[in-house]
Amino acid sequence: MRHYPRPKTRDEALGWIRWSQHGYHEHGHGLWLVALRSNGAFVGNCGLTLQEVDGAVHTEVGYLVRTGLQGNGYATEAAAACRDHARDILGLERLIAIIHPDNVPSQRVAAKIDLTFERETTYRDRPAQIHATTFPVPGPTPGS
Ligand SMILES: CC(C)(COP(=O)(O)OP(=O)(O)OC[C@H]1O[C@@H](n2cnc3c(N)ncnc32)[C@H](O)[C@@H]1OP(=O)(O)O)[C@@H](O)C(=O)NCCC(=O)NCCS
Repeated sequence: MRHYPRPKTRDEALGWIRWSQHGYHEHGHGLWLVALRSNGAFVGNCGLTLQEVDGAVHTEVGYLVRTGLQGNGYATEAAAACRDHARDILGLERLIAIIHPDNVPSQRVAAKIDLTFERETTYRDRPAQIHATTFPVPGPTPGS
């Protein structure tokens, strides 16, 4: 929690669940559950959400792994799958991550899925870094 302002209240947690459900219904994506293939154990969440940064709406890849399971590559694996989904299934042109400047593990995950540091800004009244990638636009199929 050190990179978050404070835990959510119960009402805020309910609001987060409703916001997630709205994302699933309206956009077909949101933060998804991450579970171990071997036994289904809850690992955390990872997914694609719409976020407003500096007056523009972007698709963000977000990730969160339970403390006891961190350092096993789970965030990197899940975030790479979400990046591929954004590019190959949703056909997005750009994907970002909004990261607190002190959050080195999150910056490492972003780098490992090929998001590069773009700029410093503020997000929800706190300092933030924007890491981003732009996907190449597919060219015409040869022979077509
Ligand atoms: C960020 C987070 C999701 C990373 O999850 P994870 O499953 O441990 O990540 P991975 O195992 O894929 O490791 C990714 C990188 O983070 C590094 N890392 C993991 N824990 C670390 C720690 N405590 N200190 C420094 N680096 C750490 C790993 O070493 C790895 O980098 P490397 O390959 O260069 O060594 C996890 O730390 C977390 O849930 N943090 C709290 C929520 C959060 O901050 N989410 C991101 C918000 S922007």
